[in-house]
Amino acid sequence: MSKANIDVEKILQGKYPAKAHAKRVVEYIRSKIPDATGVLYLEGRSDKLLEDSDEPVPFRQRRAFMYLTGVDVADCFFIYDLATEHSTLFIPPIDPDSVIWSGLPLSPEEALSKYDVDAVLPSTELNPTLARLGAAPNATVFAIADRVSDAVTFLEFTNKDFTVLGEAIDETRVIKDEYEIALIKKANEISGVAHKAVLERVKKAKNEYELEGIFVGTSIAQGAKKQAYPSIVASGRAAATLHYVHNNKDLAGKDLLLLDAGAEWSCYASDITRTFPISGKFTEESRAIYEIVLQMQTETIAALKEGVSWDEVHLLAHRIAIDGLLSLGVLKGDRKEILEARTSTAFLPHGLGHYLGLDTHDTGGHPNYSDPDPIFRYLRVRANLPAGSVITVEPGIYFCEFIIRPYLKDPKHSKFIDEKVLDKYWDVGGVRIEDNLLITKDGSINLTDAIKDPDEIEKIISSS
Ligand code: GLY
Ligand code: MN
Ligand code: MN
Repeated sequence: MSKANIDVEKILQGKYPAKAHAKRVVEYIRSKIPDATGVLYLEGRSDKLLEDSDEPVPFRQRRAFMYLTGVDVADCFFIYDLATEHSTLFIPPIDPDSVIWSGLPLSPEEALSKYDVDAVLPSTELNPTLARLGAAPNATVFAIADRVSDAVTFLEFTNKDFTVLGEAIDETRVIKDEYEIALIKKANEISGVAHKAVLERVKKAKNEYELEGIFVGTSIAQGAKKQAYPSIVASGRAAATLHYVHNNKDLAGKDLLLLDAGAEWSCYASDITRTFPISGKFTEESRAIYEIVLQMQTETIAALKEGVSWDEVHLLAHRIAIDGLLSLGVLKGDRKEILEARTSTAFLPHGLGHYLGLDTHDTGGHPNYSDPDPIFRYLRVRANLPAGSVITVEPGIYFCEFIIRPYLKDPKHSKFIDEKVLDKYWDVGGVRIEDNLLITKDGSINLTDAIKDPDEIEKIISSS
């Protein structure tokens, strides 16, 4: 694994490479339909008001639209002509009533200079343009099912395909280009600063919500107005709830805090977890679990490179967890038999990680949530990892009574668990450490630089 040497600011001075994305999407479609001709048609998210208020629903651009346009603006449309490779962005026309309240919207000239598209028209031109392009011989309109407004007409097109475009975009998004990697890295840099700000405040904080405020506030103060996902700020036993959302419990008397939080930058996600002692000093038990999880992460990251089977890397994490829990005496018996019985899923019930990009749980991973083998059921990526993909590596060990108690009642598993030793660990709650890795031909590049060395963590918290 190497350190990221990516000149983020320089790369991001350029335009989001929307046209290159459109070309790759068309390549995918042609791999399925060699003589495909016609247009790609996409709609962005429209602005909506809340049900019982005149305030807007928080805007989140549709990811497929963002991928082909780079446009994070409401009420836009997009057409890409396969034959000429000509792209057109349609933006809302000026509505004088709305200018009173919201100021002037984006002009066509601004849009043309800002985005990687060939033409910009007002959305009043959308249906006439579709009618003209649809009249070409044997033209197909490729669109996404349920993402076409009622006012839009495809009448002139010979064929309509509502299947392949969504699939093509989902698959193409797996391999990131330099610009997307810079966006993910930028989100990571901001989150790294915000994670450190939380470390520096945890000792004096009284409640989880203060730390959520620090994280989100520090992100916004760096220009990242949105989080990639709701922060998980879980103290003590709450850390065993994987997607804990309450973030409102007092910290007093608790050992660890698990902070899973990541800012978003231009619609691209970071997804980072750190776990640290609230007092500035790990207990013997929490330090032991932390070190096992850190070893799980170090060794699985070392195994990464183009073509590696994610199933195998996930199994490696389980093997290290089993060895670690055997050395503590929480598990007993033969390591191979424990793995075969899948007993370690009691302590690590989730998958090792997922693709990351426009979505936190990004597309193209082909999970099998009904896999009969429980160790793979929640693994969100079932593939050999291609170079250029970005994946989270987020091993964890959790002590969740709701999950573990049934294992203690099942003789298939209970023979491998020493309940007396286990009893010492319930208050550890859970430890997860999560970084974002770019897969390369020979290894990987870690895009996350948030602090995770346990001694350094203790030092920062204790001296704050
Ligand atoms: N933050 C959600 C996850 O790690 O998958
Ligand atoms: Mn994650
Ligand atoms: Mn996470």
